[in-house]
Amino acid sequence: MKPETENVIDVRGLRYRYPDGTLALDGIDFRLHAGECAAVFGANGSGKTTFVMHLNGLLRGEGSIEVCGLRIDGSAKADTLAAVRARVGLVFQNSEEQLFMPTVLADVAFGVANMGLSSENAARKAKEALEQVGMAGAAEKAPYHLSAGEKRRVAIAGVLAMQPDILVLDEPTTSLDPPGQRELLQLLRRLPQAKILVTHDVDFAAALAARAVFFERGRIAGDGEIHSIIEQFHWSRGSE
Ligand SMILES: Nc1ncnc2c1ncn2[C@@H]1O[C@H](COP(=O)(O)OP(=O)(O)OP(=O)(O)O)[C@@H](O)[C@H]1O
Ligand SMILES: [Mg+2]
Repeated sequence: MKPETENVIDVRGLRYRYPDGTLALDGIDFRLHAGECAAVFGANGSGKTTFVMHLNGLLRGEGSIEVCGLRIDGSAKADTLAAVRARVGLVFQNSEEQLFMPTVLADVAFGVANMGLSSENAARKAKEALEQVGMAGAAEKAPYHLSAGEKRRVAIAGVLAMQPDILVLDEPTTSLDPPGQRELLQLLRRLPQAKILVTHDVDFAAALAARAVFFERGRIAGDGEIHSIIEQFHWSRGSE
């Protein structure tokens, strides 16, 4: 692990326009320290998913992005991108739709095997990650037979198996039952990695993160202590 004062993510002036002309990110500045956990809030369509897709080079906008000192820009080479992807574990918003191997174990081992580990080592790391998410018993099942919440756990295991420095979770609690959400919370609390947690679940976020950033039309409109951000942007379900 890096010293806690070091930035593992350093984003400056990030702008991104989709090919259809939608300006989704309009000047994002964001830094994250080693081991820090930040929640990302904001309305539907405010740019949260677009932002996190830049953190491992899936999308390339204007501005600068550094991950653990590695710069991702237009001229980043394939090996730089591979190094960044090994450090940033991204669990997609619709991750449960992205399982494609014949067995759960093979799916979780896929990413690790791509990092150049032997198949035995990849399988061992995959089994450990499945234990962590409570899915070891399903290792030989076909992913498409799993329930939505089970698929999500497997998707999370696929990222944990790679032991990244930074975990980026986009709506990780979707489809998880309340015990599953509690277990995920306890798991994430135990993990030493820096975390970016994109979620509309304010209580889940506040149980994990001390800091929140608030996205508004492709900009960060607020960045600070999570409860003050929730209050400033009236960002809770509340009750009448
Ligand atoms: N592939 C795409 N092509 C064109 N526009 C897109 C594309 N993907 C997203 N957008 C637009 O970019 C903006 C930001 O979308 P994004 O998915 O980043 O929002 P979000 O904050 O993650 O929303 P949500 O809370 O609903 O997940 C929206 O206006 C969206 O319509
Ligand atoms: Mg999104």
